[in-house]
Formats: sequence, structure tokens, C-alpha cells
Amino acid sequence: MKGRGSNMRAIAEACRDGLIEAEVAVVISQADDTQAVESARALGLEVAIVSHKAEDYGPQLVKTLHDAKVDIVCLAGYMRLLPSDVLAEYDNRVLNIHPALLPKFGGKGMWGMHVHEAVVAAGEAESGCSVHYVSENYDEGQVILQLTTPLEPTDTPEDVATKVLKLEHQAYPMAIQKVWESLNG
Ligand code: GRF
Repeated sequence: MKGRGSNMRAIAEACRDGLIEAEVAVVISQADDTQAVESARALGLEVAIVSHKAEDYGPQLVKTLHDAKVDIVCLAGYMRLLPSDVLAEYDNRVLNIHPALLPKFGGKGMWGMHVHEAVVAAGEAESGCSVHYVSENYDEGQVILQLTTPLEPTDTPEDVATKVLKLEHQAYPMAIQKVWESLNG
């Protein structure tokens, strides 16, 4: 679901509960009217709206991240390739979560229910999620952490989506803490 923001919420709660030794400096969204923005405000987080339609979208993102003194950028439900300005500025510090066990079921077109439909169609015995570094190509950066769940032959794509999303909410905070330790260790 577009703009649901459940991973953002899981990350913010993990920071609040001390599972991640960092804090959410800013939540950036391209639209104001999403569930993600609503949850972020309810959690008392700083929110910035930056439209991808702006001509200087990349520089605006970089400025917003700099202003908030961001160290690690976490994409969650980000549906396009990140402007190269951000990748250049945050080399090896941009993370994404994908709802499958990369390198399988990744790449262009593999998003949302398409991923889980492909997993079921392939008769996979397990699925899971992957937190990975972001590169210039979809879902190709180095994997930081994966969590897996067994699948039943009767599982529908919706069942797989539910199982995987639950894992995502554990995996993303764990991966951020791992990266945080590697940067500050
Ligand atoms: C998640 O399934 C994530 O793996 C994918 O987009 C979805 C975002 O969900 N990249 P949410 O907005 O965090 O609930």
C-alpha cells in the first residue's frame, strides 16, 4: 500500500525503545496526505515534504538530509531510483528493504504484491526480506541482513505478504543498528 509507513513506524519505535542507538532525524515524504506522514506526526517526528516533481528534487533531498544532520538514510516503500546526488553524498549509508530474499525476486517491476505473486508462482518453500545498501540499480546493492520464513503450499500471495511484513519490522531495526555500529565502532 502506497505511503503506509509501517517500516518507518517500526524504525521510529525501535529508536524510542533503545533497540537502535540512534534517532529519527527527519521523515521525508513526497506527499502530505499519507498514513506514513500521519504516523510520523503522531510519533512527534520531524516531517519534510519533498516532491519528486520538483526540478531540483535531488539537491532538495540532499539539503533536507543535511539540515537534519542525517547519518544514515533509510528508504521504506520508496518506489523510484534515488537521485544520484543523494547516493554520491551518502555513499554506503543509504539502506532499503525489499520484501523477498534477494537476489531472487528483485529488480524493476518487482514491488508490492508482484513480488509475493512471483514467489508463490515459483513454488518457493520459503520467503523473507532483505535489507540492503542502495546502488544505482534496483535491488542490487550488498545485502546487510535477511530474515526468512517458511511457506506452506497453501499460502496465497496475501499470506506471504503478511508473513514477510512482520519480518520486515524486525529486520530493518536490526540492520540499522548493525550499520550504526559499523560506522561508530
Ligand atoms: C515494504 O514491503 C518494503 O519491503 C517495500 O515497500 C513496502 C513498504 O511498506 N520496499 P511500508 O510503507 O513500510 O508499510
